[in-house]
Amino acid sequence: MTIRVRTARGAIRYPVRVSAGLLERAGGILRSAGVPKRVLVVTDRTVEKLHGGRFLASLRRAGFHPRVIAIPPGERSKTPERMRSLCDRWAAWRVDRSEAVLALGGGVVSDLAGFAAATYARGLDWYVFPTTLLAQADASIGGKVGVNLEHGKNLLGAFHHPRGVFSDPRALRTLTPRAFRSGLAEIVKMGVIRRPAILARLRRLGSNGDVAPLVRAAAKEKAWYVSRDPEDRGIRRELNFGHTVGHALEASLGYRRLMHGEAVSIGMVAALRMSVRHAGLDPEPAAGVEDLLRSLGLPTRLRRTPGRAFWSALERDKKRGRSPLRMVLSPAIGAAKTYDLPSLTSLRGVISSLVQKP
Ligand SMILES: NC(=O)c1ccc[n+]([C@@H]2O[C@H](COP(=O)([O-])OP(=O)(O)OC[C@H]3O[C@@H](n4cnc5c(N)ncnc54)[C@H](O)[C@@H]3O)[C@@H](O)[C@H]2O)c1
Ligand SMILES: [Zn+2]
Repeated sequence: MTIRVRTARGAIRYPVRVSAGLLERAGGILRSAGVPKRVLVVTDRTVEKLHGGRFLASLRRAGFHPRVIAIPPGERSKTPERMRSLCDRWAAWRVDRSEAVLALGGGVVSDLAGFAAATYARGLDWYVFPTTLLAQADASIGGKVGVNLEHGKNLLGAFHHPRGVFSDPRALRTLTPRAFRSGLAEIVKMGVIRRPAILARLRRLGSNGDVAPLVRAAAKEKAWYVSRDPEDRGIRRELNFGHTVGHALEASLGYRRLMHGEAVSIGMVAALRMSVRHAGLDPEPAAGVEDLLRSLGLPTRLRRTPGRAFWSALERDKKRGRSPLRMVLSPAIGAAKTYDLPSLTSLRGVISSLVQKP
């Protein structure tokens, strides 16, 4: 599939490909795309060990000269400090705009490397090779890049579309079960807000199912949103379903305890319950989605009542001067809309309904 977007820099289009064995063919693909020979690979240490070898070998076979930076894995690497040290290394190497960035890894790597590419020397071209389910189905597509601040997720960021997204479903075989499940959450989200058939497919997945068709289906929907609303001013905001609460959980827990998809899973349960209360969603299918999340092994409950840090991270999400709470809700499975809610009271009730009884 191809994404076509209009940006401040003009109209651009780029391919999104999902194909088994693609990492071994990376060199040839980039060569035919006319990528310059000097490339800057950004990855994390786990991915480097598991997949770096064959990726780099393929680049070298095709005549590329890759220089590699591997960051420590995990959300806590998505910081301005890490981005600065990345750019310092590039500067020490005298990198200029004739070089391209290749991000090899999950959403943390692509958000960080993409943001560095967006700002270093006022912008380098970049390409993504996503290696997690979450990144293949969602994070690598759409040009949103950035890092976290202590006060909130993705608070420093930019729109900088990659020149190509190349997903190899074989790379997913080495994921930990936990990282795999985390990726399923964003796919569930796509089913809830736009494509109920995705939910049916997830119900049939089982433990050894082939996820490549689900990756393609979710990536296609993501591309649909991005092409219509490249800079998140309208319909693309529907993708925030589950993220108001999810992001606040991540930020208030210090980006340690929950993976992104896990936080989104709990956030979606909150959004579903809010949808029943405020958007007219039928409680039965709402409970069906909760059951699906649970059967996929995703968390749907909170261990304890969230404290002040949670509510202040949540406040940061809201637009100043507008209603107390703006949230994406689902009036029916397969649809989503932004709602302005008059107070936080209802959300407080929903949040306490999610706290596990001891
Ligand atoms: N830019 C966007 O539009 C967008 C959309 C959704 C999510 N995100 C961001 O994406 C991030 C989450 O992405 P993620 O879940 O991919 O996190 P991640 O990059 O931290 O990857 C999760 C873990 O899996 C490991 N890993 C990666 N590939 C692997 C492989 N093939 N085999 C074994 N281990 C592997 C990583 O080392 C890491 O420990 C969050 O920061 C979130 O905010 C961005
Ligand atoms: Zn997300």
